[in-house]
Amino acid sequence: MAKEPVRVLVTGAAGQIGYALVPMIARGVMLGSDQPVILHMLDIPPAAEALDGVKMELVDAAFPLLKGVVATIDVVEACTGVNIAIMVGGFPRKEGMERKDVMSKNVSIYKSQASALEKHAAPNCKVLVVANPANTNALILKEFAPSIPAKNITCLTRLDHNRALGQISERLNVHVSDVKNAIIWGNHSSTQYPDVNHATVKTPSGEKPVRELVKDDAWLNGEFITTVQQRGAAIIKARKLSSALSAASSACDHIRDWVLGTPQGTWVSMGVYSDGSYNVPAGLIYSFPVICKNGEWSIVQGLNIDEFSRKKLDLTAEELTEEKALAYSCLS
Ligand code: NAD
Ligand code: LMR
Repeated sequence: MAKEPVRVLVTGAAGQIGYALVPMIARGVMLGSDQPVILHMLDIPPAAEALDGVKMELVDAAFPLLKGVVATIDVVEACTGVNIAIMVGGFPRKEGMERKDVMSKNVSIYKSQASALEKHAAPNCKVLVVANPANTNALILKEFAPSIPAKNITCLTRLDHNRALGQISERLNVHVSDVKNAIIWGNHSSTQYPDVNHATVKTPSGEKPVRELVKDDAWLNGEFITTVQQRGAAIIKARKLSSALSAASSACDHIRDWVLGTPQGTWVSMGVYSDGSYNVPAGLIYSFPVICKNGEWSIVQGLNIDEFSRKKLDLTAEELTEEKALAYSCLS
């Protein structure tokens, strides 16, 4: 019997990531090739015409799984009945703007969209925040949508996780699907800590630790980390635009694993509400290693954290604590 369609909201759908993401969702990349979807696309009035254009293209592409499209500038219409919300919409930093100016615009957007989701989304709606500052936008959304369970509100660090796997795969000249269990700790920013201490590579003679195969701790503790931390900036420099296809693809990975489960023995990175695991302050949205089963994530416990890593986990937590304070000062 055919499955009931799932309603997926994409905010900022007329933007770059939106344009890459909606066809992936409509093709089943996010929820599976047997899962019909109804797309809800939200943008703001200046982008309304472009949004209509995206809707026309979705119709023209004749996706078999796509059972309907709502394209709107009305946040209530966009949020009504959605099972999954991918929050990509936001205000980009413009010339002459301070970090606080961008933070102030975005946290007010996430505060008001939190209320719309809380009132109108389907019960148990799963939320993924992509728009920057992703962790802090997600935290504001969580705080202003108190009836949505905290475990349903996450942010995207899967792109950073995939970037870490990609760097190891290039370095060892192995296929990226043979590399697993890297970890992104903390903020989706340049203070994030890409950690390969528990990462492994599948080889003909079994799984081997990345450190044993790379045999270059200086690279792993130095250039590898900075390359992953700075990858977003490197893409902006090269494209004159921020990452879009990799962000969209990683957003699909994030939701697919959350809904359908992570493979046995594999963990992924997700920005989730901290419960104090690994002595990360509770009450931040912080990226942890997680496994997913039956539509729920849980933090992988018991990993050894050496002194080098501890400092890096704390540094990115400090930045998130400062961002949280700044966000609240913008809202007061
Ligand atoms: P973009 O500027 O091309 O698109 C953003 C869209 O959001 C625009 O169409 C804009 O009109 C819309 N928008 C603005 N305010 C809105 C509101 N209140 N409601 C709904 N829509 C609104 O930007 P993009 O390249 O698609 O990037 C989107 C966001 O994702 C940015 O904040 C970017 O920094 C972030 N990003 C995050 C990651 C990550 O890994 N977490 C990676 C790449 C980009
Ligand atoms: C990325 O990681 O590619 C983006 O978050 C970069 C950015 O600043 O938009």
